[in-house]
Amino acid sequence: MKVLLVGGGGREHALGWKIAQSPLLTQLYLAPGNPGLNRLGEPLGIKAEDIDGILAAARSRNVDLVVVGPEAPLAAGLADRLTEAGIACFGPQASAARLESSKAFMKEIADAVGAPTAAFARFDDARAAKAYLREQNPPFVVKADGLAAGKGVIIAETLSEAEKAVDDLFGGALGDAGSVIVIEEFLEGEEASFFAISDGETVIPMIAAQDHKRAFDGDRGPNTGGMGAYSPAQIFTDAVREATMTRIIKPVIAEMSKRGAPYKGVLFAGLMIGPDGPKLIEFNARFGDPECQVMMRLLKSDILPVLHAAATGALDGCALEWSDDACALIVMASKGYPGSYGKGSIIRDVDKAEDCESVIVFHAGTKEANGALLADGGRVLNVTASGPTIRDAVERAYEGVEHIDWPEGFFRRDIGWRALKAFI
Ligand code: AMP
Ligand code: GLY
Repeated sequence: MKVLLVGGGGREHALGWKIAQSPLLTQLYLAPGNPGLNRLGEPLGIKAEDIDGILAAARSRNVDLVVVGPEAPLAAGLADRLTEAGIACFGPQASAARLESSKAFMKEIADAVGAPTAAFARFDDARAAKAYLREQNPPFVVKADGLAAGKGVIIAETLSEAEKAVDDLFGGALGDAGSVIVIEEFLEGEEASFFAISDGETVIPMIAAQDHKRAFDGDRGPNTGGMGAYSPAQIFTDAVREATMTRIIKPVIAEMSKRGAPYKGVLFAGLMIGPDGPKLIEFNARFGDPECQVMMRLLKSDILPVLHAAATGALDGCALEWSDDACALIVMASKGYPGSYGKGSIIRDVDKAEDCESVIVFHAGTKEANGALLADGGRVLNVTASGPTIRDAVERAYEGVEHIDWPEGFFRRDIGWRALKAFI
């Protein structure tokens, strides 16, 4: 099978690493790839957002399956274009990717099937939004409706902060993404990310992972795309999984199909696990980054037939087998991230990290120049390790991190702290 993988971050490196192990794979093409991924396939020099370029490459190379990592090309209709051209695509069409690209749409679907989620109201003008806020209790949750690269959620402790968020969003702080806003109830509990793969009708559960969104130790500092992750997530018990599948995932997949927008691909549910069980915070139309990296390390089955089956409506009868091990991932980020940061500093000794027991390093924001590995983004490297317990996995991953020589980088020293506390 010839596969074209779209994207060039840590998530895609992990997907490519797993796909490359499939005996079914004959050729892996990359759009655009990264220095880690490029060792596993052929980079085509096409950006992930270049829909025409991806379509042309998939056609000219007779690709059997396109696997899309990031959300932006999905929301822009990449899966629609590939489907029209008769090319199998793992990733939903734009009408189904709306579960991520419009928070108001996600809420409408959740309501239609009675999935547990925060109470909410949708607004397109500031006066009505502020009047509603005055009737609520803090903390206030104000969200831009559209895709905002992780910047679209404001959790405000005071009414004036919440009102400012409303003014900022309607004032265009996030462009069109904020022309409609959603105000919702604050959910208490512990967060987990859960994933399921669907072909539009059949759904198979994957596993849950937990990530660390804040930049600094102790879950302090600004929100990021994720500074580390681990799995299994202790909070995600069998009962929580069952409730998530029967009350959220399966009814939503059925509703999307009923509405003529069948969901093909991976559905990522961001959940708050509280005393009443799981509540849906958000959907994403893609794998989580860095959660995907952890899942790929724990997946025992060949992923390629499952991705292909999801893309072609043949998932019935497929199953995924998982390792009993735990896995931990430490993100090494450029100093300054998620604010402004420099690019181009030299990273050394990634190979020494990979000599440590069970350590694999996925590249996120790197580039190569004159034989040197350089930092080229905010989140730069993902150091992963597995082991019989979370503690083993975390210790091994940090041993890997210590070998990497990159003075311009930083990382959190407490990845997995909730899970480790449970051991004491
Ligand atoms: P989102 O972009 O929707 O994932 O939101 C980013 C983060 O904001 C989530 O991971 C949660 O930590 C937090 N968040 C979003 N919505 C809520 C809510 N209703 N209650 C509590 N926290 C929330
Ligand atoms: N790690 C969370 C996300 O990918 O959105």
